[in-house]
Amino acid sequence: MKKHVVVYKKLAEPLLARLRAECEVTYFEAIDAGNRAAFADAIRGAHGLLGASVRLDRELLEPAVDLRIISTISVGVDQFDVDYLRERGIWLANTPDVLTETTADTIFALILASARRVVELAEFVKAGRWTRSVGESQYGVNVHGKTIGMLGMGRIGRAVARRAALGFGMQVLYLNGEAVPEVDAALGARQVALDHLLAKSDFVCVVLPLTVHTERMMGRREFALMRPGAIFINGSRGRIVDEAALIEALQQGTIHGAGLDVFEREPLAPDNPLPRMANVVALPHIGSATHETRYAMAQQAVDNLLAGLRGERPRHLVS
Ligand code: DGY
Repeated sequence: MKKHVVVYKKLAEPLLARLRAECEVTYFEAIDAGNRAAFADAIRGAHGLLGASVRLDRELLEPAVDLRIISTISVGVDQFDVDYLRERGIWLANTPDVLTETTADTIFALILASARRVVELAEFVKAGRWTRSVGESQYGVNVHGKTIGMLGMGRIGRAVARRAALGFGMQVLYLNGEAVPEVDAALGARQVALDHLLAKSDFVCVVLPLTVHTERMMGRREFALMRPGAIFINGSRGRIVDEAALIEALQQGTIHGAGLDVFEREPLAPDNPLPRMANVVALPHIGSATHETRYAMAQQAVDNLLAGLRGERPRHLVS
């Protein structure tokens, strides 16, 4: 008998066809208030789940007694209670590697856009306000030759550090669980203590996963340790930052600016001041969002799911 799979994100037709060839598929392009009850109902009878960006908590998964595998189309697994899945013996697979370089591109775009005020000045031109040669009030700050402090030195951290050191002649400091000797050797990078990194970096860049240890690790104390001319970049998860403390640091000039792809609450609440602040570049969580990479992620997630349903160990197993 075919296994029952619930897909909860829009999937390209060839990938959906691959799933349908082996499984009985219940398909939701997205989950919203209107179909949440139907989604919960479908999960009860599922052997496998495939999707992204929806919190799948105990309450939702408890009735799914046949569930074998959840295959998320993301590298981040903060939408899941990993300990609970482990207790239940449910496999959780993700999509690392394929999104590394794309996400590093996005992070570097934030670095350049924040430092050189790209978004603000492009708007200035679009509004027809470019009537004479620009003056000091439109100057940005250099990126090349500066110091970047990386909070995290995993796959994406390394890809950002490589761009920074080899492309822009930047000095790389980092804080990671363990030092990464190959990065030190190849890029002249150095692992340092958090306070040292914050005090010495012109750009502080978060590329850590969200865990109980990293949640809100950037708070008022940490922003106060940053240089007044420094720019804060977050391409990881919004909840690593105490957003109120970040807003205060930006408003009071404790730091110079921020480039943010992620936020405490997504999509942003209408009253969140960050996107309206002149010294902030805010993006709608587009780290891996290119046609090529999102397709590759979905393909990897389908491979993981089908392997798991056949009883084989998926290639990218989190737990
Ligand atoms: C990921 O893969 O975790 C990205 O942040 C997209 O959610």
